[in-house]
Amino acid sequence: MNREVKVTLITTSLALVSILISFSVLTPPPIPGSDHLLHKATTLHVDSAFGPESLAFDPNGDGPYTGVADGRILKWQADALRWTHFAFTSSNRKDCVRAFAPEMEHICGRPLGLRFDNKTGDLYIADAYFGFQVVGPAGGLATQLTTEAEGQPLFFTNDMDIDDLDDVIYFTDTSTTFRRRQFLPSIVLQDKTGRLLKYNRSSKEVTVLLRDLAFANGVALSKDRSFVLVAESSNCQILRLWLHGPNAGNVDVFSELPGFPDNIRRNEKGEFWVALHAKKGLVAKLVLSHRWFGNTFLKLPLSFKQLHSLFIGGKPHATAIKLSENGEILQVLEDTEGKTMRLISEVEEKDGKLWIGSVMMPFVGIYNLQ
Ligand SMILES: *[C@@H]1O[C@H](CO)[C@@H](O)[C@H](O)[C@H]1NC(C)=O
Ligand SMILES: *[C@@H]1O[C@H](CO)[C@@H](O)[C@H](O)[C@H]1NC(C)=O
Repeated sequence: MNREVKVTLITTSLALVSILISFSVLTPPPIPGSDHLLHKATTLHVDSAFGPESLAFDPNGDGPYTGVADGRILKWQADALRWTHFAFTSSNRKDCVRAFAPEMEHICGRPLGLRFDNKTGDLYIADAYFGFQVVGPAGGLATQLTTEAEGQPLFFTNDMDIDDLDDVIYFTDTSTTFRRRQFLPSIVLQDKTGRLLKYNRSSKEVTVLLRDLAFANGVALSKDRSFVLVAESSNCQILRLWLHGPNAGNVDVFSELPGFPDNIRRNEKGEFWVALHAKKGLVAKLVLSHRWFGNTFLKLPLSFKQLHSLFIGGKPHATAIKLSENGEILQVLEDTEGKTMRLISEVEEKDGKLWIGSVMMPFVGIYNLQ
């Protein structure tokens, strides 16, 4: 392309994008019956850090702990009202000084899903670049449990849940071709190389339970351990794999969602909170309707930030969905304008509060259910 044509194309697309975004024509509408309440959440800033993706409380109820974009795992010290450095997944951290530097993730690590083993106090970590890890209650450098499954390296480890009784951990590898920082092309091109895996803690064996998943993301076991859920983000749905009982081994669609699900967390009642990265608006529908649109979309002369903004429909917003044990939508909480909460990644219910993470905010949200 010659320079002038290129400049004109860039200017035209930028103008078009800003017009569309400013008129909100692309903004996905509110979900029917949703409660517009999430803007009432309070925020807890992660000091000089960014993108607290997953949140976990230790067996004493302390925390939360959260993994941030510079590769650290931080702990909230409620008594001292500050975050402390708890653990890390990469031993080579001398250049990991910026709060947000996606080009450094493969060196610094990017801890995503976190879960505590309530018996031992060990923290299990799904690191997008360093595989599946564990760290003891004192923190420090985590140990790698596995970096491959059935001969294929883990490429984008994302989330997990622990089954104490069977002594296994279910976890996801989002893609075998796209890195975490390429999540947008991975979704837009509808990559289907994600896997749901099982780690046997006594034999240390890893087995593939499901393959060819479309952006395998959040994982949650049911309260009675009869099934495990896995979010397929780019298909906007949650799959259910039956583990025990008459249906063991079968997979079905647990829930279809109005957007892109990230992590799934069970509450004490056995219901599930699902965080949507974003709702599926007009642009996302079009882009995902045909591979040609996806390819063309990625070739627009726009920055990652602009492409992402266009894909989610302009205004960053927040949507949290509560599902019953059978997958029915029980409640939808929204911040449609993104006044307080945006682009959320996890909703963890504890003592009447929702603790809310995001890969694209510098804070954790706290929403009072009462
Ligand atoms: C550990 O206990 C917490 C409550 O303190 C609970 O939310 C969490 O699901 C438990 N984790 C596991 C793996 O059982
Ligand atoms: C885990 O591995 C052990 C030892 O090989 C085996 O006895 C056990 O059945 C396995 N557990 C599961 C749930 O696959």
